[in-house]
Amino acid sequence: MTSMDEPTFLRACRKQDAAHTPIWMMRQAGRTIPAYRELRDRYGFLDVVKHADLMADVTLMPMREMPLDAAVMFADIMLPLSALGVKFEIVDGVGPIIREPIRTVGQIQAFLDTPVRGAIPQVFDAIRIVRRELTGRDAALIGFSGAPFTLASYLVEGRPSRDYTETKRLMFSEPATWHLMMSRLTSLVVEYLREQVEAGIQAWQLFDSWIGALAPQDVQTYVLPYSAQIFAAVAEVPRIHFGTNTASMLELMAEAGPDVVSVDWRVPLDKAWARIGDCGIQGNLEPAVLLGPPDLIQQRAGDVLRQAAARPGHVFNLGHGVLPESPLDNLKLLVDFVQGWTR
Ligand code: CP3
Repeated sequence: MTSMDEPTFLRACRKQDAAHTPIWMMRQAGRTIPAYRELRDRYGFLDVVKHADLMADVTLMPMREMPLDAAVMFADIMLPLSALGVKFEIVDGVGPIIREPIRTVGQIQAFLDTPVRGAIPQVFDAIRIVRRELTGRDAALIGFSGAPFTLASYLVEGRPSRDYTETKRLMFSEPATWHLMMSRLTSLVVEYLREQVEAGIQAWQLFDSWIGALAPQDVQTYVLPYSAQIFAAVAEVPRIHFGTNTASMLELMAEAGPDVVSVDWRVPLDKAWARIGDCGIQGNLEPAVLLGPPDLIQQRAGDVLRQAAARPGHVFNLGHGVLPESPLDNLKLLVDFVQGWTR
């Protein structure tokens, strides 16, 4: 790649002609990579994400294994919450735990107002390291943030949840408290994404992983106005809107204003694309397909590519993160297959 060229991934996000269909995978840096498992034998997850050099190293691990079209910053959606003074743990195999869930106006008013740059400087240092290391490669660096709703679900529940009862109780029984929390999270997310852009990310993804737990009507009332503010506020680089179980709300995901809507495997890609109008699309291989044999992987990736029909604006990805049990060789095979399809 010459310095004049834009990475293929960014061209696709902008719906420009691209040399091939770009591919990256959510959770591409995780437990499928032996070097990551070795690192995690020595450090806890939160120790890794305290150190810029370790974060940068893990971000680059999958890039050393495969010619992926994008690296995604190795961090976690919980990190910026420390700027609010929120204490959390991340328990292996469970996820984020907050011992004192946030459910009252008083707790929200007691949030600290630490600049994100001061609270988690390592994230921005890591971004600068990774950008330097990727120089000259046809690969972009993606940053991300949790979306206000998904962050609120962890704050209110205090742990991963199946039904989001306490979150919905707050939303429906104390709408003013809900809107106060969402406003505060929105300004945090905007600040966090702006700092990442300034440090050098070339695209960002808003992870609203659990938005599909809501009725579309409630997404519209309680969630979308905040996500839309974020997409409008940080528009210098391509923006991706991610959620799962969103088949009933794809139009709303697009209405929030991203460049690309990420869809999961519960809806065929061509049907999804017809519904989101002008937006680019990301997805949508079923992650568990990577547990199957090579011929199945090629067949199912081929289905996705045929549905995309080489229309500009397709970024290949899984519908959600790589399952930790996926063999690394299957990830490599997928990358090869997708990039070879259009070349
Ligand atoms: O995609 C990537 O490779 C970048 C790194 C990344 C992590 N978390 C690292 C991580 C990203 C983008 C996230 C975002 C994140 N964190 C989300 C949104 C994405 C999604 O999956 O929908 C959510 C909901 C979280 C909250 C969270 N943090 C969960 C559910 C877990 C998993 C707990 C477990 O062990 O299964 C975490 C911890 C976490 N974040 C791990 C990783 C690699 C697992 C810890 C480990 O394996 O070392």
